Amino acid sequence: MGCGLIGILTSGGDCPGLNAAIRAVGKAAHSMDMEVIGFRDGFRGLVENRTVRLDNAALSGILTTGGTLLGTSRDKPHRFPVASSGTMNMVPVAVENYYRNHLDCLVCMGGNGTQKNALRLAKEGINVITLPKTIDNDIWGTDVSFGFDTAMAVGAEAVDRLHTTADSHQRIIVVELMGHRAGWLALGAGIAGGADAILIPEIPYSIEAVAEAILVRSRHGKRFSIVALAEGARPVGYDEHDDEEETNDFWHVHSLNLVNKLQEITKLEARYTALGHLQRGGTPTPNDRLLATRVGTRCVEMIRDGVTNSLVAVRGDDCIALPLEETAGQLKVVPEDHPWIESAKLVGTTLGEG
Ligand code: F6P
Repeated sequence: MGCGLIGILTSGGDCPGLNAAIRAVGKAAHSMDMEVIGFRDGFRGLVENRTVRLDNAALSGILTTGGTLLGTSRDKPHRFPVASSGTMNMVPVAVENYYRNHLDCLVCMGGNGTQKNALRLAKEGINVITLPKTIDNDIWGTDVSFGFDTAMAVGAEAVDRLHTTADSHQRIIVVELMGHRAGWLALGAGIAGGADAILIPEIPYSIEAVAEAILVRSRHGKRFSIVALAEGARPVGYDEHDDEEETNDFWHVHSLNLVNKLQEITKLEARYTALGHLQRGGTPTPNDRLLATRVGTRCVEMIRDGVTNSLVAVRGDDCIALPLEETAGQLKVVPEDHPWIESAKLVGTTLGEG
């Protein structure tokens, strides 16, 4: 591809590592004599043509910073919010702005929603590449996404810290972690932090089974228990269609219900902590900086080599170009036979199976 100008946008929920990835794309592009511009606030900035030049000065000193210097939004070009009439299809406007800026490729950093939005634009004939970004780690076809390692570290530290206060007060503490409809974050942080129960969306939980595991601990002299609860986890028998379109606030209802029921059944005092957006804030871990740099630089090599309309997917030490059709609309959830689940069980953690 005769490539001179790359556009970058960051879309969906932010996460640590986005600035490291912007820096990687920008610096690698400059090293190959390409220019880079950014669009502000995700696809919104592409539709509204709000750009920022990403020169050397703009890319300097951002490797370790959290958030995204470009800003982000959850706006989708095909259902773009407009004040008067709800939403409008702005895909043609997004495509027009791609050409107006004389772009050769658009790099979209995002999670599952972003893969779908990018595919829609690619189908209109423009060149798009996506980078795997999300604390949820649920993008199909990539081993891992940047943001996950940092969020897992925050989650693990929280589980660690809750141990001492739970112990002092002889309490059950239920800590709710993000992760949307996948359990990677709660499972990883729960194992690393030594949670006594880990409840994830992939395995509907029995409140009675969790309560029994806590009582068994009590009988063995353990006067406290920590439950790492994924926000998307649901009790056995819950009809998931009931909350398909609900907000995150709604998800807390399940957490509070669990806390109350555990208290009722075990007669132990129970408390609830939701980590929420703490997991998305702050500086990225070295692993996330490394990963963001790997996928960002690989992305520019792919652009140089004429590869587009793909996700830069991590496979072991390599990054491959995975066609957007193969990832968009699919969710990478935790398989029931995943080794992390086996390990959790073997160290005595309950997954709350009924
Ligand atoms: O996808 C990332 C994520 O943090 C999810 O884990 C969480 O469910 C959601 O975003 C929260 O979204 P918002 O920042 O819009 O509240």
